Amino acid sequence: MSPATILRNVLRVLIPLCIASTVYLYLYPVFLGCAFPLPPQEAGKTEPESSATAFQHTLRQHVAPSKSAAPFRLLALGDPQLEGDTSIRNYNRESFPHLTWAIRHLTYKTDQPSLRRRLRQVVHDLVDVFFDDLFDTAESIRKRIDLFGNDFYLAHIYRTLQWWAKPTHVTVLGDLLGSQWIRAPEFNRRSSRFWNRSFKGGERVPDEVAAYPAEEYELAGLLGVEDENAAAWRRRIINVAGNHDIGYAGDLTFERLERFERAFGKAAYELRFELPISDPATNATIYDPESNPDSDRLPPELRIVNVNNMNLDTPAFDQSLQDKTYTFVNDVINTASAVEFAGHFTVVLTHIPLYKPEGICVDAPYFSFHSGGGVKEQNQLSADASRGFLEGIFGLNGDPSAPGQGRGRRGVVLNGHDHEGCDTYHYINQTEGEERQWKNTLWETAKTDKYLGNPDIPGLREITVRSMMGGFGGNAGLLSVWFDENDWEWRFEFANCALGTQYPWWFVHIIDLIAVVVLVLYGILQVAAAAGFDFEKRPKVSVPKIEISEHIDEIPDEKPAPVSNGDTKKG
Ligand SMILES: *[C@@H]1O[C@H](CO)[C@@H](O)[C@H](O)[C@H]1NC(C)=O
Ligand SMILES: *[C@@H]1O[C@H](CO)[C@@H](O)[C@H](O)[C@H]1NC(C)=O
Ligand SMILES: *[C@@H]1O[C@H](CO)[C@@H](O)[C@H](O)[C@H]1NC(C)=O
Repeated sequence: MSPATILRNVLRVLIPLCIASTVYLYLYPVFLGCAFPLPPQEAGKTEPESSATAFQHTLRQHVAPSKSAAPFRLLALGDPQLEGDTSIRNYNRESFPHLTWAIRHLTYKTDQPSLRRRLRQVVHDLVDVFFDDLFDTAESIRKRIDLFGNDFYLAHIYRTLQWWAKPTHVTVLGDLLGSQWIRAPEFNRRSSRFWNRSFKGGERVPDEVAAYPAEEYELAGLLGVEDENAAAWRRRIINVAGNHDIGYAGDLTFERLERFERAFGKAAYELRFELPISDPATNATIYDPESNPDSDRLPPELRIVNVNNMNLDTPAFDQSLQDKTYTFVNDVINTASAVEFAGHFTVVLTHIPLYKPEGICVDAPYFSFHSGGGVKEQNQLSADASRGFLEGIFGLNGDPSAPGQGRGRRGVVLNGHDHEGCDTYHYINQTEGEERQWKNTLWETAKTDKYLGNPDIPGLREITVRSMMGGFGGNAGLLSVWFDENDWEWRFEFANCALGTQYPWWFVHIIDLIAVVVLVLYGILQVAAAAGFDFEKRPKVSVPKIEISEHIDEIPDEKPAPVSNGDTKKG
């Protein structure tokens, strides 16, 4: 076979494989049926549509956009953890140090008492070149390639879901970076990779938009209204501060917080979005101190609270920073709507999950402390800090005589940290009397009437989004929130979309690259052949063929005459 024929055969196999795998990779949410949960399309229903209906709806949105999707669709990404120099073995030092030493010994640049010792050192160093340096260098090169690919693997998730699922907002739930210990140059390199590669096209939330909680506030935007502001929100990324970004309480310094906020946006703020009510009759039912003082309906509003919960627990390294966080949480509570009113919904975005007993999620409660005090590591918030969320921000209460019967405000908590993800329900059983305390169960269990349908059991769903890192399957959370005008209440649903590990991503790009190289080689061969070069390994003049044809011509003449000469063997 000629080289061109071999390449042609290789391409016959490679090209269909490349096309199929590339199409799959670049349209993975379509093949996996990913879509934002869809609000009920029929009046009177409260349950979201099935995931199949939601998928078809998303597909239709790409042909003819309609307004029936949820007005708030949050793409929630957990723990990308961009790694860098700290994970490269030979970073910032030469690749073959032992070879350098061997040469220095050989060239008498070192002190050695005798030639025998000098040669002994040289042999030692040469052995280490093979058993240490080579291995180290290979591993470091592998890691560099791995980091490079990982940036684009994460980018693939962000870009593809941004295009397919059409989120209105995006959040990264902390641990944007892989280490809080890195110095400024490495921090800058990683933040540049974050914005220029993994989240290309994304923007940090402008400081003037990221508001401090106040009684009088400006809206961050309107939901369900297609304007310039809505387009800006699609680009913005609501970044949450994680322990690998700024450190736990025990190592959270002003400098770490400052550089994070400069690169990724503020670490604590709120955003208020309103959903305009178009029907004048419905609009007239909203509370108004003069015209409609008896109504408990507030204009439908979605309040997003981004809480830096890194230093809620004690002891903290910097007391003033911890005081700032406490003041922030208190101000969030003090500026919330009264629990007796309906129509507001709070989405808390934070990094460390709330307290829950061992055995519910993968991570069990865990704390460790620096020897001089200060939180060194924690898997969850303490039970007390968690109650601050449940009873403070959400106003839930085990005491039925508390304001609003202790049923609190509607909302949801989203976080990361536990890379495995978890979906749970915090609740308190008011009928248990003085012994009652906060409990937790999986969301799947909580969906039964025993919990959700029971007015004596106030509760709150907490979704810990599974990490988008390749090792955890490249996940992305899809949270839809919509407003039920009949019940004057926001409703929400969550779905997960997992691309899978980074290996298929690598595979597709490598075979695509190979196919391109083979295609180019094949093209070169074809052009060369057309230009008169003959790569086939045979003489220019096909002499043997001519000989064969001559033989064929002669064959009839050579046919032996019929046997009749008595040579045949007799029986
Ligand atoms: C992105 O890259 C450009 C050019 O390499 C650089 O100037 C810019 O600062 C980077 N962006 C961020 C956010 O680091
Ligand atoms: C709804 O009512 C408020 C007053 O309560 C008014 O300011 C607003 O313009 C009304 N909106 C519509 C769409 O009717
Ligand atoms: C709540 O407490 C009551 C007793 O006070 C008990 O009968 C009931 O099963 C509890 N509900 C849940 C969901 O635990």
